[in-house]
Amino acid sequence: MAELKGTAEQNGEGLSRRKWIDVLLGSSALAWLAAVVFPVLKYLTPPVEEGGAGKATLTDAQRDELKSKGFLILRIGTDRVLAIKDGDVKVKALSAKCTHEGCTVQFQAAEGLIWCACHNGKFNLDGRVLSGPPPRPLAAFAVAGDLASSVTISKPGGAA
Ligand code: FES
Repeated sequence: MAELKGTAEQNGEGLSRRKWIDVLLGSSALAWLAAVVFPVLKYLTPPVEEGGAGKATLTDAQRDELKSKGFLILRIGTDRVLAIKDGDVKVKALSAKCTHEGCTVQFQAAEGLIWCACHNGKFNLDGRVLSGPPPRPLAAFAVAGDLASSVTISKPGGAA
């Protein structure tokens, strides 16, 4: 009888231990599933565009940088944009993505042109190809305002 009682206690203890292990395994399986499913879902979901629907208003720091350096590279959604100071307060903006293989172009103030370091592509300040392999000009972005007040840059095609 004492032996049976001991077995029953062991069974009760075993059940509670088994239950605890089941909970532990269940939560581990859920954690693993979440660790796998979340990144896959995040990868499959298109990125949300930042700064509104295809436009951005420069911050004070960006306007100061543009005034002092003469150019600025910023992001509008998934686009890289090259903003160039044009005169005292005017700004022009072009796509900073080279039309050849997509490298980010650079503003060369000394030569007064836009240069792509990847294959030595050169563009004028209106985005037209001057030399090198780029097949098309850089896309122009619309600019509203000026450095004296505020500057809003919009994606080509009228996305506002
Ligand atoms: S990627 Fe710009 S010239 Fe080739």
